Amino acid sequence: MPAQSLPRVIAIDGPAASGKSSVARELARRLNFVYVNSGAMYRAVTWSVLERAIDPADKSAIAKFISGSRLDGKFVDGEFHLLIDDVDLNQHLHEDRVNAEVSRVSTVPEVRKLLVQRMQDYATKHDSVIEGRDIGSVVFPDTPYKFYIDASPAVRAQRRAAQGHRDEIAQRDQADSSRAASPLVVAKDAEVIDSSDLTVSQVVDEIAGRLRAKNLLI
Ligand code: DC
Repeated sequence: MPAQSLPRVIAIDGPAASGKSSVARELARRLNFVYVNSGAMYRAVTWSVLERAIDPADKSAIAKFISGSRLDGKFVDGEFHLLIDDVDLNQHLHEDRVNAEVSRVSTVPEVRKLLVQRMQDYATKHDSVIEGRDIGSVVFPDTPYKFYIDASPAVRAQRRAAQGHRDEIAQRDQADSSRAASPLVVAKDAEVIDSSDLTVSQVVDEIAGRLRAKNLLI
């Protein structure tokens, strides 16, 4: 980060399995920015809720749990990991039960409030690439660097199946797009990239070109 300048945030939003994690990770590596996967943060909370046998439909129990937990972060190879009560849950985040409940848990206002605060705190200290659903629309509405990565439903289903996970992505998209708080939307000033027929590296090249046009040099 140049001395005296504010850290920059590149927001990458999009639906499930659109390829945004691979793109955001590679973009952060090329730029030497930190990589923050906000979906992983919502997944860590969901895993903890399930592990404690809290009913994922019980919003007040989830709110109580999250308000009483200690949330910290650490960087592992340039990637942000959320620690809940000192535990790094990274290895559990793609379990089927987490896929099945994460959309529901992420609607709890207290969960969103605390995680959004964490992201905003970290972004005051580091240049970052942050991916999720509401990063450009709600979490960092003022960043000039916003992208929305899409892909056709068939391609997204194929990508997820190739990862060997059971994940009802159409159902998650429906839940994430129709919820009241911070739904998945294309921020009005986001640049949309359809990744259906592109490799990760081609999408990153495309973003890099658009960032150069905004004087963010890669
Ligand atoms: O990016 P992902 O598929 O790992 O995200 C998992 C879930 O987390 C997603 O279905 C909804 C929630 N999420 C959210 O509500 N807001 C974000 N910024 C990122 C993810």
